[in-house]
Amino acid sequence: MKIKPFELERYFARYEFSSPYLLSCSDCEAFSLNELLELADKKNRKLWDNLKLSYTESAGHPLLREEIARLYDSVLPEQVNVMVPEEAIFIAMNCILQKGDHVICTFPGYQSLYQIAETLGCEVSKWEPELNETWDFNVEDLKQLIERNTKLVIINFPHNPTGAMISHQHQLEIIYLCRQKNIILFSDEMYRFLEYDEEDRLPSVTDLYENAVSLFGLSKSFALPGLRIGWLVSRNKKLMEEIACFKDYTTICNNAPGEILAIIALQNKDFIFKRNLQIISDNLVAADAFFGKYKNFFKWIRPKAGSIGFPEMKTNISVEEFAKDLVEKRGIMILPSNVYDFKGNFFRIGLGRKNMKEVMGIFEEYVVSEFL
Ligand SMILES: Cc1ncc(COP(=O)(O)O)c(C=O)c1O
Repeated sequence: MKIKPFELERYFARYEFSSPYLLSCSDCEAFSLNELLELADKKNRKLWDNLKLSYTESAGHPLLREEIARLYDSVLPEQVNVMVPEEAIFIAMNCILQKGDHVICTFPGYQSLYQIAETLGCEVSKWEPELNETWDFNVEDLKQLIERNTKLVIINFPHNPTGAMISHQHQLEIIYLCRQKNIILFSDEMYRFLEYDEEDRLPSVTDLYENAVSLFGLSKSFALPGLRIGWLVSRNKKLMEEIACFKDYTTICNNAPGEILAIIALQNKDFIFKRNLQIISDNLVAADAFFGKYKNFFKWIRPKAGSIGFPEMKTNISVEEFAKDLVEKRGIMILPSNVYDFKGNFFRIGLGRKNMKEVMGIFEEYVVSEFL
């Protein structure tokens, strides 16, 4: 399989571990191993201390699948398959799609959500938001994109990179459309539980639609990307069986330490979400103040959920050049919108890191000294 480079991941590979300051990360401040272990109760501490580094059960540790199922209203542990989040996208697309299928995907977006479909020979239509005061994905636009051979709709809310959400009503309308046309719905829910207003939190589509598959994991909302633990859930039994078979050709099973640490994280989810939302909300105050102060230079489109935002530069300097100069002169990495293959002058900023205010200070000094 020949696949185009994943531009965002290549950009991170180039700068993430060589730049002193990161202002674009989508994960929240990661927990240390010790911090996580301190949250373990006696039973889990024993599981950790006595852990044997053997192969693990292919679909995931039974206790882990039980904990994951509790995140949903109607999902049973046997409807869960644990895997690396990115692997989950790869496997699901390979199992669902065939050459010639038509696919609709939210755009801009995490490249693998549409790239794998394209590489498999599918025709991909992009469902793009309108930019008003917020980023608005219009269900009417989605409806217009549906074709006779549409096999799959791929959505991602809270959305990477804009932080956009859709309303509960619009989520139901998407499901109605898919059900009517017998379309499978793949929902990337990696940033779920990071809604700033709890009322905006959508149910997982798997709880609402029998022909949906949902992706979630520990990389963003749980601040544990290094565990490489995520999962797919679906009530479509045949699809979950195919996914299990495909996984025998990728990782076969999960890393044993990651599974036990994941059980600990899931049992402490309320504490973890609260801690991450607090970091994000403090950083949002700083971002609001900064972008308010420099509103002639930037347009701040406030995200509604998640750990990232996607502001616009209001000058004719290209964001690609800006990002390059910034990382070279001040060592600050931002993610320009060309990495998303998205027209316009936008860049992604991360709201989940504890040092964001410090980095914004250096960023401000750069902007003022170079451009104002
Ligand atoms: C929307 C979305 N889906 C999936 C992933 C993949 O997660 P991971 O990098 O943990 O495999 C990411 C990571 O950035 C993401 O933003």
